[in-house]
Amino acid sequence: MVDIRTTIGSLSLQNPTMLASGIMDEDAGSMHRMIDSGAGAIVTKSIGTHPREGYANPTVIELDHGLLNAMGLPNPGIDQYGEEIKKIKTTKVPLIGSIYAADAPEFTLLAQKMQHYGVSAVELNVSCPHAKHYGLEVGSDPVLLHDIIRNVKNHITLPVFVKVSPNIMNLSEIVQTIEDAGANGIVAINTVKAMAIDLQTKRPILANKTGGYSGKAIKPIGIRCVYDIAQTVDIPIIGVGGITTGLDAIEYLMAGASAVQIGSAVYYRGPEVFHLICQEIRTWMKKNKYTTITEIIGASFQ
Ligand SMILES: Cc1cc2nc3c(=O)[nH]c(=O)nc-3n(C[C@H](O)[C@H](O)[C@H](O)COP(=O)(O)O)c2cc1C
Repeated sequence: MVDIRTTIGSLSLQNPTMLASGIMDEDAGSMHRMIDSGAGAIVTKSIGTHPREGYANPTVIELDHGLLNAMGLPNPGIDQYGEEIKKIKTTKVPLIGSIYAADAPEFTLLAQKMQHYGVSAVELNVSCPHAKHYGLEVGSDPVLLHDIIRNVKNHITLPVFVKVSPNIMNLSEIVQTIEDAGANGIVAINTVKAMAIDLQTKRPILANKTGGYSGKAIKPIGIRCVYDIAQTVDIPIIGVGGITTGLDAIEYLMAGASAVQIGSAVYYRGPEVFHLICQEIRTWMKKNKYTTITEIIGASFQ
């Protein structure tokens, strides 16, 4: 019998697939749809203290091997989004509240509100490649990041995950900081900073000019980051970036991830992607004589 349950520290998941932040998590209705489609956990879109409109269109374009987006973190603000979170009725599928802010007091306020609304963990988004003040400025500054994580940890009891970027040169230092500050897990990776130009207009296609690349093309980048992070820290890692099939998920597990998140593939394969990937993982495990996910996690290490 194949058992695909997994854990991320104290969090138990019925299967290792999670919905990534920013995809089909507008409201309680869309999140319920992802839960019904078999996701082992759900991450909310990244929420800030106040409503934010996001950037002008076009915000998402489809390229040959992935999506390029600069949404600009559109969200209704924590108070209004809290009403959606409260509507989610499930105890089996953990709901993880993703939050963004520029400093420790704001992150702490958001984390406390998320805890109050009933989420199972919080994910600190410090890695958006196209949001001024809220993204890489925070996620590449070890002193600021340490302060944010310590503050959040001191004010909530829930597990705290930190989502990192592949766009920084000091990833090892940053993940070491995240662990030292007491975070309970690392999510890797956010989108890869990128751009596309329209040959006719000779202008960048996205209204914001640059955006974040996701989907199939970024899988090797995510795999490398997860592998490196696993060599650096002992806290659990959640792998994300280009996962489209069960085999992609297994590759991330072998690189050291305890669970995986799926974003762009929800657009490519539909919401049933969670169910399909779980089925593909089971089939591979049976064929290769694995019985538990734990046997696969970090299998690539010598
Ligand atoms: C349209 C879109 C919106 C996103 N919004 C967020 C967000 O609000 N917060 C966040 O942490 N990541 C966000 N992401 C990044 C994804 O969560 C994920 O890290 C990235 O897309 C790589 O995974 P994938 O290749 O499976 O899509 C977004 C990605 C896309 C494509």
